[in-house]
Order: sequence, then C-alpha cells, then structure tokens
Amino acid sequence: MHTFEVYKVYPISIVKAKGCELTDSEGKKYLDFYGGHGVISIGHCQDDYVKGVAEQLSTLGFYSNSVQIPQQEELAIHLTKISGYTDYKLFLCNSGAEANENALKLASFYTNRSKVIAFKHSFHGRTSLAVAVTDNPKIQAPVNETDKVLWAELNNIESVKALMDNDVAAVIIEGIQGVGGVQMPTTEFMKQLRELCTQNGSLLIVDEIQSGYGRTGKFFAHQHHDVKADIISMAKGIANGFPVGAILINPEIKAVFGMLGTTFGGNHLGCRAAIETVKVMEKNNYVENAAKMGKYLKEKLSLNKEIKDLRGEGLIIGVEPKGNASELRDKLLFDYHIFTGFSGSVNTIRLIPPLCITKKEADMFIEAFFKATNQPLPTK
Ligand SMILES: Cc1ncc(COP(=O)(O)O)c(C=O)c1O
Repeated sequence: MHTFEVYKVYPISIVKAKGCELTDSEGKKYLDFYGGHGVISIGHCQDDYVKGVAEQLSTLGFYSNSVQIPQQEELAIHLTKISGYTDYKLFLCNSGAEANENALKLASFYTNRSKVIAFKHSFHGRTSLAVAVTDNPKIQAPVNETDKVLWAELNNIESVKALMDNDVAAVIIEGIQGVGGVQMPTTEFMKQLRELCTQNGSLLIVDEIQSGYGRTGKFFAHQHHDVKADIISMAKGIANGFPVGAILINPEIKAVFGMLGTTFGGNHLGCRAAIETVKVMEKNNYVENAAKMGKYLKEKLSLNKEIKDLRGEGLIIGVEPKGNASELRDKLLFDYHIFTGFSGSVNTIRLIPPLCITKKEADMFIEAFFKATNQPLPTK
C-alpha cells in the first residue's frame, strides 16, 4: 500500500528537532521559520513539554469524556489567565477545521439561524462547514456547495452590511488571514464588524487558529483592535504539535447535552500537551518575545529593496518579493537551509516561526534572506 498523495512534498525527511532547529536524515541542519505550518509555538521538543507529555502517557494516555478529566479544567484556568477571556467556556476537539465546524454549528444552534458571512481569500479548514466558509472552490467538493454562505470583502464594512439579515447566525473572520497571504483586518473594520454583529444578533467568530496563541504579540490577533469575539477558534500552537483544537465560548451561550461532542477531544494526553505548552509560554514570556522578534524582523526586512510589500504582526509576517516568491522560498530552503511558509495566490513568503526564536536566529534569517535576494546586508 502507498499513501494517498494529496501533498506536494520536499525530498527532505526531518528526523530530529530542538528549539528552532531541524535535522534531516542526512544530518543536515535547518532553521525552522515555518514551525510545521505555524504549529510549533514553544519550540521543538522543549524539555518541560517532553517530560510532562511522557509522564502523562506513562500514567494515563486516554479516557473518554464520559468521566471527569481534571486536566481540562487545569487548561481552562491557564487559558483564562493568558487570554484575558475570563468568563468564557472552553470546548476541546482535535484540529482547526473541527474547531471552526463546532463554532459555526454552535452559532447556528444558539441563534436558530442558518446563514454565515465569510470573507474572500479566507481559509478555515477542509471539513464540511469549514471548507464551505473557505474561499477556495478548488478544495470544495460538490457536496460542500451551499447558498448558506455569503461572501464579503475584508475591510469593507458596506459589503458585510449588504449581506446582513435576520437569518445570519455568524460572521467568521480570521484574526489575520494566513493562507490568504497575511492580510490584516483594520481596527476600524473590526470595531464596525463587532457592532454590526451585535446590532443584528449575529455572533462574531474569530478564527485564531493561525494568528492566535501569542503569535502576534498579543494572545489573540483581534485583541490588537480592542474588540471581543463571541467564539474564538484555536488549534495549531495550542499543544506544540500534539493535535488539539478548541473554541472559547461566550458565557451567554448555554451548553445543552449532545449539542457538541467528540471521542478524542480533551483527552488526558492532549490536555497535558496543551498545559505544558501554555506553562512554558507563560514562564518564558513568549508572547512578548513574539512581539519583539516580529518587530525586529520587520524593521530589518523593510530595508530590503527587493521586497514589494511587508505585512503582518509579531511572528506572522508576509513577505511579498518583487521576484517570484516560490523560487525564493526554494532558494532559502535548498541553499540556506531555512524552512518558510508560502501563499501562492499573492506571491508571498509566510514567516510563522516558533515563538521562542532568538535574536541570533532572527539574524541568521535576515542574513540568508538578504543574500538570497542579492541585497547588501543591513548594518547592525
Ligand atoms: C486560519 C486557519 N483556520 C483553520 C485551519 C485548519 O486547521 P486544521 O488543518 O488543523 O484543520 C487553518 C490551517 O492552516 C488555518 O490557517
């Protein structure tokens, strides 16, 4: 049997990793400015994380949601503190798509409405509802086609108003559009959107799966705009590589048995991985580090004359070069041994490194990037 080949893969096999460094099967070292698609938050194989997860696994790896799982409450306490969403409820699942699936379903249950407004160039995942609110017909199967999803333009409140009616359960928006090429909602737009949702009795769902969990220098990207969401979806960085997804839910939305459910979600091992991740984040102030390193990287990159546009906040940075981004990405990987992300639709390299990157690692990236684009190195 062979694997079902749905990915374009590099001819590289990573066998070991520590912090922001990857090692392949031939012993070659790489700098990780991709974090396995924004998943590695506290660095690969962080010591406390490895110890905590190993201990949990040797004690109790899994039992179902039919019994009390105190690790869920422990995680909720950490999340309350670090996110500032003190009175919200936590529901745990296994992936980003599943988090959005649950968020949308919950909004529809709560409002008893059936439509959703989503944004052009969005990405919310590949399961049924998540892909239906994703603006990419290529990944939607005929069964996903629906007239329940309405499409608005990012940063254009009139386009949202034109679609709003009393059957709109929710508006779903990414904290920062990631796959769409690091496109930023403005503060004015986010405030208008919040107000419009409140007036219309629709829920505001913010997908923080890529932009959240400290990556932008605040716990959630939407907190830069001083707005509150009704439901926030999370995954990727939440457990540093262990598959965990979650939603935070406005306390006005009351849980009803059977409304949401999952076999694996919130299991002992997943929770332990998430608890260790958040503890390491708190202890090392990685949210602050993301802000600091992101600012530093952007300052240096802004001196590169081969860059057409530079977008992002903290450690989610979109670099749109004047030349071909795909070729530059390959050059960074094969000539300079640096992994980065990519948004093909807007010719953009996406930097989503672990939040623990050091200044030395940021400098290594800058040096490689300037060399790869034939630009003089910025002075220190
Ligand atoms: C903003 C956003 N939402 C949802 C998802 C889907 O997450 P998952 O692949 O864990 O289902 C992604 C994945 O890239 C994402 O970037």
